[in-house]
Amino acid sequence: MMKDQSGSQAIAVEIVEYDIEESVRRRYEAGAQQMEPQLCCPTDYEGDYLGCLPQEIIEKDYGCGDPTRYVRPGETVVDLGSGVGKNCYIIAQKVGASGQVIGVDFNDEMLTIARQYQDEIASKIGYHNTKFVKAKIQDLKLDLDQANQWLAQHPVTNISDLSDFESHCDRLRQQEPLIADHSVDVVVSNCVLNLVKPQDKKQLFGEIFRVLKKGGRAVISDIVCDEPPTQKILDDPDLWSGCIAGAFLEDEFLAMFEQAGFYGIEILSRQIEPWQTIDGIEFRSMTIQAFKGKQGPCWERKQAVVYKGPWKAVLDDDEHTFERGQRTAVCDKTLQILTSPTSPYKDDFIAILPYEDIPLEEAEAYDCSRTNLRHPKETKGGDYTITKTSTDDATCAPGCC
Ligand SMILES: C[S@@+](CC[C@H](N)C(=O)[O-])C[C@H]1O[C@@H](n2cnc3c(N)ncnc32)[C@H](O)[C@@H]1O
Repeated sequence: MMKDQSGSQAIAVEIVEYDIEESVRRRYEAGAQQMEPQLCCPTDYEGDYLGCLPQEIIEKDYGCGDPTRYVRPGETVVDLGSGVGKNCYIIAQKVGASGQVIGVDFNDEMLTIARQYQDEIASKIGYHNTKFVKAKIQDLKLDLDQANQWLAQHPVTNISDLSDFESHCDRLRQQEPLIADHSVDVVVSNCVLNLVKPQDKKQLFGEIFRVLKKGGRAVISDIVCDEPPTQKILDDPDLWSGCIAGAFLEDEFLAMFEQAGFYGIEILSRQIEPWQTIDGIEFRSMTIQAFKGKQGPCWERKQAVVYKGPWKAVLDDDEHTFERGQRTAVCDKTLQILTSPTSPYKDDFIAILPYEDIPLEEAEAYDCSRTNLRHPKETKGGDYTITKTSTDDATCAPGCC
């Protein structure tokens, strides 16, 4: 993998002779009109949620995994590259009437089919909680339906028109962002991120991060490869639009989330058998989960955690090391990240709270750049000299000890 000037891993930007975006758009226009078996990677969805979907939505499935199984009631979910809406309509049932699903696609044919069934499915499930919008997933502020309307009245015929159009798009992004900052609980996507041009991929992960609320998460199924695609593969537009040439290297996929500022990045599933093998390179589906919310101030509230094991030690995304069995001091934010009920680490850590609570407004800044241990006396307080034996405890049940 290439490194950029800051030393971090960067997606290789290979030069190809064709317009990647246009070839993707055309391939999925055709795939919306007629089901294309070559684009289908067999996927098991939970059957209970398919019953109310029309056959067309079930069949025109070009996903490669099932991110829908990881959403919860009441959540606001954005589906990147929603196609005919299969994942959105499954999620609509899972999040329920108090949740919301927004499908994003840049393909009119796909959007038309997805929107066509909205009322029918809403009446079957008993509520209306889906919306389908037109945008590039690497530019979630710009509403392409609005941009199109402006273009219809202001055709671009020269550079000056183009500059006016670009200014109008910037105004839309600033004043009427399609998907606002920090507005979404979960971003899902099923077999789409690989289709984005290499030079836009970093921006794409930045957009996923931007729209998520603090504490929100991304659950993304996509195609990964075990070795870099050869130039012959990259040069084939059908392999690009067929989710092969743009596949992420397995480790690169996880690194992209890390570089965008996510934590708790985890492989939820990885196909054992490859979906396709080309020139000895294996392409398979992988589903990743990643959380937003490690940014922000660190406050000292005399809290600690104990890592339960079984590993001898673990390292988090802020470079803190937690040794098995040790009372490691943490700031308030790290305590929440490690032990809250929705934490990916919640089963791995024991929270040790001070006997006397320090209110957040009285807490001092905590230096989170080092890993420190917390002495038990800090937890209990300096003047803690109590003596209490088991026989003093009146609540001890008969036969206990
Ligand atoms: C492989 S299909 C997956 C569709 C859907 N997620 C599913 O599981 O059936 C890719 C979809 O992403 C859309 N797409 C590809 N690149 C996109 C981009 N840069 N912005 C928005 N949509 C995109 C295509 O139009 C197509 O509908």
